[in-house]
Amino acid sequence: MAEKELRSRAWFGRKGKDGFIYRAWMKNQGIPDYEFENKPVIGICNTWSELTPCNAHFRELSESVKRGILEAGGFPVEFPVMSLGETLMKPTAMLYRNLASMDVEESIRANPLDGVVLLCGCDKTTPSLVMGACSVDIPTIVVSGGPMLTGNHRGQQLGTSDIWRYHDDVRTGKILEEELLTIEAAMCRSHGHCAVMGTASSMACMVESLGLSLPGNAAIPAADSRRKVLAQLSGLRIVQMVKEDLKLSDILTRKAFENAIKVNAAIGGSTNFVIHLLAIAGRIGVQLELKDFDALSKNIPLIANLQPSGKYFMEDLFYAGGLPVVLKALDGILHRDCITANGQTIAANYSKAIGYNSEVITTVDAPFNTATGLAILTGNLCENGAVIKPSAASPHLMQHIGKAVVFENIEDFKARIDTDDLEVDETSVLVLKNVGPRGYPGMPEVGNMGLPKKILEKGVQDMVRISDGRMSGTGFGTVILHVSPEAAMGGNFAMIRTGDVITLDVAGRSLNVAITPEELAERKKQYIPQNEITGRGYVKLYTDHVQQAHLGADMDFLVGGSGSKVLRDSH
Ligand code: FES
Ligand code: MG
Repeated sequence: MAEKELRSRAWFGRKGKDGFIYRAWMKNQGIPDYEFENKPVIGICNTWSELTPCNAHFRELSESVKRGILEAGGFPVEFPVMSLGETLMKPTAMLYRNLASMDVEESIRANPLDGVVLLCGCDKTTPSLVMGACSVDIPTIVVSGGPMLTGNHRGQQLGTSDIWRYHDDVRTGKILEEELLTIEAAMCRSHGHCAVMGTASSMACMVESLGLSLPGNAAIPAADSRRKVLAQLSGLRIVQMVKEDLKLSDILTRKAFENAIKVNAAIGGSTNFVIHLLAIAGRIGVQLELKDFDALSKNIPLIANLQPSGKYFMEDLFYAGGLPVVLKALDGILHRDCITANGQTIAANYSKAIGYNSEVITTVDAPFNTATGLAILTGNLCENGAVIKPSAASPHLMQHIGKAVVFENIEDFKARIDTDDLEVDETSVLVLKNVGPRGYPGMPEVGNMGLPKKILEKGVQDMVRISDGRMSGTGFGTVILHVSPEAAMGGNFAMIRTGDVITLDVAGRSLNVAITPEELAERKKQYIPQNEITGRGYVKLYTDHVQQAHLGADMDFLVGGSGSKVLRDSH
């Protein structure tokens, strides 16, 4: 079979004025003629930024990728895209996930690239890059930045999930504010993203289980030299992927998505995984619905004993053999024949894995926890669904009836949660509205709202909490998230009032509020929207077009792809 002409030839293979323009300005970087002679041009899509601390080591990582590309006879070109730092961006990095995906999509399509390496790390940088790349669909490989080393404070291991505990400890006076300062430095002591099975780690596991990275990508710590080796090997491999024309759409089949969902359940991955995977499926044209997550996760026990559902850290997962050992433990549950970035099937990849610590990675027959990683709830409170992570919740609250204590928005919550006259006890259900995609806007990670101080002081550590927002992948508790339709859409959730009786039945997968249809209709008549949705620029575009959480919160006009062809020239 004749080799397919490289896409970049439509730029660099040209004669006359157009070829001159496409090559001449590149030569100001000191590039010799032969680089333009039929070499695969590989873009390195870099989310390096000092404002995204989790990705701050990516300039170095990119050098390793380049080495691999050069070694394989490719022509590497690094380019920046919008970087989304989870911790600094207000009102939430999630508001900008779709914007960054547009940047990635258009940057890949508009430029003379034959293949692309996506450098992803902090939470939103992975889904935004994969979403954007899917809408173009050229050969693509993901290199994750890797997790931080496990934090260590006065001999105690710690990671991001401990923030939520320390925050409560300061509020109740168990530790002093000053001690938090030393904890800060002890927690983030190396390059990399959050060291627990939070969203960034879940995303790294997602790309590996989808087959978008080389095996082992998810768990190698950022500070470990083997991370650079993986980056170099990925650079080497992408050149070959271009020759094979192995595109995202060849790898991202429905079966690959099913594998990723099962793996996320087995590792106790983030609830944010649901939203991002739905958005990615939408871009590549694979049918995937919220209910699929429940059906596919249902019988998968937790086998990776990692925080926040378990005990250990990503560094421990790496020493235990990494994600391939988890995949191998799921043999018989996963689709074995899914093709991956290295050209091998997922089963061929994991068959070589060796486990080194059966406490960190257990087996399906003897899991460390039988609770499901994810459950999807429906009922009159969430007509289009809601998400809970039972593995990080309290077993005694899985069946619960309680009276709602409603906060209309985040300001209302912050103003009243610790007041003495708030009528609340541990059987109450905390309800937070207007933190959804449109309502906030951007769907922030505030769903694991802190408990009222007076409840914490009784020694109570968990209560049922419901919102239309998200929760950090590092968070835990009996927290129901992603209620759809969100309050800002004026659905049933917007109508709940303090004192309404809410029934949660996780086993029955239901979430209901005891309001008669007549009463509901009456409340809808009287309803005045809380958040006036205004804005200009991107925020206006976003609020006008963002879809609800059960559809992945992508913008309606971004679903699908436009391929890689651009017919017209620039001059
Ligand atoms: Fe970047 Fe957690 S803040 S991964
Ligand atoms: Mg987060």
